[in-house]
Amino acid sequence: MTILTVLPLLQTLREHADDPDLLHLHDPHPTERQWTELVSDHDFSLWLISWPPGSSTGWHDHGTAGGAFTTIAGELTEHSWQGGEQHSEKVRTLGVAEAWAFNSEHIHDVRNLGTTPALSVHAYSPRLTTMTRYQLVDGRLEIDGIERAGEGW
Ligand SMILES: [Fe+2]
Repeated sequence: MTILTVLPLLQTLREHADDPDLLHLHDPHPTERQWTELVSDHDFSLWLISWPPGSSTGWHDHGTAGGAFTTIAGELTEHSWQGGEQHSEKVRTLGVAEAWAFNSEHIHDVRNLGTTPALSVHAYSPRLTTMTRYQLVDGRLEIDGIERAGEGW
């Protein structure tokens, strides 16, 4: 596979997320997010993630990867950073079958604000190999660390 730009990545995500077997691959943990990497090659990776109520990722980016995700059970809320140094968020809610894609500049915090568990499918191109973690301090994002495949997840 070649590296996918935003729209082909969204299309590929939708094709994978249509598989009804994905609903049964996880035995969700009651309080912790869980993830399974379903596909991994140099140019593409696909993840299944379960989200207990109240769980969230914290602010992060995806290194050099663009991404796309869709909810296949429950509902997720994405807070995305709107560029610049000052605090400015856009909030987007994704119910079942709703999907959204982003380029490698994107910084977000994805949360399950609901009262029921959520399940989502995430696609990245090229493969997700690093994520920079951020903290919101006095209205600005400060780098908190870099996670690497094989270490952070
Ligand atoms: Fe993310």
